[in-house]
Amino acid sequence: MTNTTVTLRVNRFAPRPERNRDRGGSPFARKSSPFGSSAEAPARRRPRGKQWTQDYVIEARPEDTVLDCLLTIKRTVDPTLAFRYSCGHGMCGSDAVAINGTPTLLCTATLKDWVKPEHTVVQTDDEGFRRTDDVNDADDAAGADTANDGSLGVIELAALPGFPVQRDLIADIDPMLDQLKKLKPALEADGVLATTKDGKVDVFEYLQNPEQLARYERLTNCIACGVCEGSCPVFAGGDAFIGPAALIWSSRFINDSRDVKAAERMDTIDTADGVAACQSVRACSRQCPRGIDVGEEMWQIVAKVRER
Ligand code: SF4
Ligand code: FES
Repeated sequence: MTNTTVTLRVNRFAPRPERNRDRGGSPFARKSSPFGSSAEAPARRRPRGKQWTQDYVIEARPEDTVLDCLLTIKRTVDPTLAFRYSCGHGMCGSDAVAINGTPTLLCTATLKDWVKPEHTVVQTDDEGFRRTDDVNDADDAAGADTANDGSLGVIELAALPGFPVQRDLIADIDPMLDQLKKLKPALEADGVLATTKDGKVDVFEYLQNPEQLARYERLTNCIACGVCEGSCPVFAGGDAFIGPAALIWSSRFINDSRDVKAAERMDTIDTADGVAACQSVRACSRQCPRGIDVGEEMWQIVAKVRER
């Protein structure tokens, strides 16, 4: 059996350390960071540094994930390559990047699903979405057919769009996390005191029937990976929009019958940069790794807020 190879074409970035403008100043001055602290998020600017594209050709099988390949490169070829991951199983959401221009998770993307022939062009379809075509009309890349040299093809990797890049494939997702925190993503419920047969207070109960649970249960699957935010053309415009992930988290509590702050939560997102900024492009629905139809959920929460 011949070994197959894949080419990972990685958009790399090495930040340039900022000069310390407080030369000779207080030793307690803020440590230099290319991004500033999260408290400075509104003034966040893109870090400067060196950008280049690097090809890595390694042996791989069609069923390997892109994360498998990056780990092989990191361990055996180039220890300087930076990327982020944790669980390796689509549960933590830490490894969202752009694969062939599409936001998705490294650990769930297999080569056979994402590899493309070397000679391809990226075109924009009628809806404005990017589509990759093989100019040579070669064998179907999705079937992981190999060229004569045993190459599966090429996969292009870049940091998650819509966020400042920190290094190589690592994006700074603090803007999203800051928005989530502002929406106070925790249940605020009044419990019912349950008593024992003797009349003693036992526990607080937060009762809910299956129909009430069904209204928000799917939304609890969100792992805040940022894939929907990286796909959203409005979010990519900066502070104009709090973003689909924040609205999904807000919707999760607004639709929870136990939560007593639904009205306040709706007030919080009923702003120019909240539900009003959603343009219903629905690009956010395309790659959610947790199977949430983000665009549909957004549509429903927008309607709910407007109908009050
Ligand atoms: S809604 Fe889906 S794509 Fe968006 S942050 Fe949550 S898990 Fe990721
Ligand atoms: S590494 Fe946790 S979701 Fe991919």
